[in-house]
Amino acid sequence: MSGASKIFVDINIDGTDYFVGTLWHSIRKNKGFSSFQYSDKWQANPEAFAIDPALSPLHSKEVFHSGDKTLFGCFEDAAPDRWGRMLMRRTFNDKAKAQDKHPRSLTDIDFLLMVDDLSRMGAFRFRIDKKYLTAPTINSVPPLIRLRELLEASEKVEESHQARKLLLTPGSSLGGARPKASVLSPDMTLNIAKFESSKDEYDVVRWEAVALHLASECGLMVPPFEIENITVSKREQKTVLIEKRFDRSGLLRIPYISTMTLLNASDNDTENYSYLHISEKLSEISSRPTADLKELWKRMVLGILISNTDNHLRNHGLIHTSAGWGLAPLFDINPNPDDRNFSLNIDPAGNNDIKTALKVAEHFEVPESVARSDIKAIVKTLKNWKYAAAKYGCTAAEISRMTPAFEHPDSDIALSENTHHRKPRP
Ligand SMILES: Nc1ncnc2c1ncn2[C@@H]1O[C@H](COP(=O)(O)OP(=O)(O)O)[C@@H](O)[C@H]1O
Ligand SMILES: [Mg+2]
Repeated sequence: MSGASKIFVDINIDGTDYFVGTLWHSIRKNKGFSSFQYSDKWQANPEAFAIDPALSPLHSKEVFHSGDKTLFGCFEDAAPDRWGRMLMRRTFNDKAKAQDKHPRSLTDIDFLLMVDDLSRMGAFRFRIDKKYLTAPTINSVPPLIRLRELLEASEKVEESHQARKLLLTPGSSLGGARPKASVLSPDMTLNIAKFESSKDEYDVVRWEAVALHLASECGLMVPPFEIENITVSKREQKTVLIEKRFDRSGLLRIPYISTMTLLNASDNDTENYSYLHISEKLSEISSRPTADLKELWKRMVLGILISNTDNHLRNHGLIHTSAGWGLAPLFDINPNPDDRNFSLNIDPAGNNDIKTALKVAEHFEVPESVARSDIKAIVKTLKNWKYAAAKYGCTAAEISRMTPAFEHPDSDIALSENTHHRKPRP
């Protein structure tokens, strides 16, 4: 899409579509601009809520977008990221080539509006008139049974037009950079399937499952998930991680925003933010601030101890239920054996250690004594990481490769006497 466009935005809640407002988008001098106005109906709806903190409160006037992004964050969250955009761009180019045309470049709004309606992240639906764009076709989301085919296609996207065609719709419905696709379970629930990447130096997908398992053992909220081992040849098996989509309940959609949107931040300025910024905003917007802050704090501690460095603002999110906004389950956690440079720091000074986690605990409403015992409990659970890894099928060589991620010097400090709270002598 180029020039100016007017898009009607609906949000599907408990199976009903509500007209939320109008999104205008235009492109001038190769730069996109957008504005949004809530509909009168949405403003009059007693159940209405702001779809994005940047669109809060429910303004009666058109809100213009500012900053270096071309779309409001809530819409960016419903658009593909690197992997999905690559699929869309290549398929678009394939089509242009077939018609002997020079392909135009796709813009943020193109990427947003090309996403499959059935599997789009969150609860938005888009219309130019009455009909939903990319309204579901029966085959838009493949069943789990086609996992092997999708996996094979994900490995051939570079060279095969057929592979791109197969993956385009299910593969571009979600964000992120790694190969993935939405797939339907036999009970018609939506899942995200994450595949290996040819660039992986170890079994990244399997380790993500190990990390999710350990997180769950630490009492954190994780979506139901499982590992599928797909035999691709006599000698080779590939790993696929299947996670239930937390932005769906059955076929019902659940609104979602990332913490990038929560903070009105952009990819270019992540280094200006820390967990403390999220905690501040979360306490304002969450319908259960105390529980969410504690959950976030514990996720942060877990992240330090398993070296989950790719913890940028798009890797945390919120969902909206009848109670209001609240933290979404944990996702995209990956132990990193090669470095401890976190995308998102704990505090603005850039510290990422257990001492700092303790220091900032009060900002997450976690009293110091509770913080100390929570850290100990997490460290104890993580001591079992090798058993968990073996249970999930990681080989001895993989376990050895991953050791630096889990053997954090702070683990021993956390368990040692030094961390006991000593009352000052009278
Ligand atoms: N279980 C899930 N349910 C719903 N949405 C999810 C789930 N896991 C991830 N997502 C969404 O898909 C996006 C990409 O997934 P992610 O695991 O972050 O992939 P990547 O490793 O490519 O970054 C996330 O940013 C989030 O919006
Ligand atoms: Mg991600």
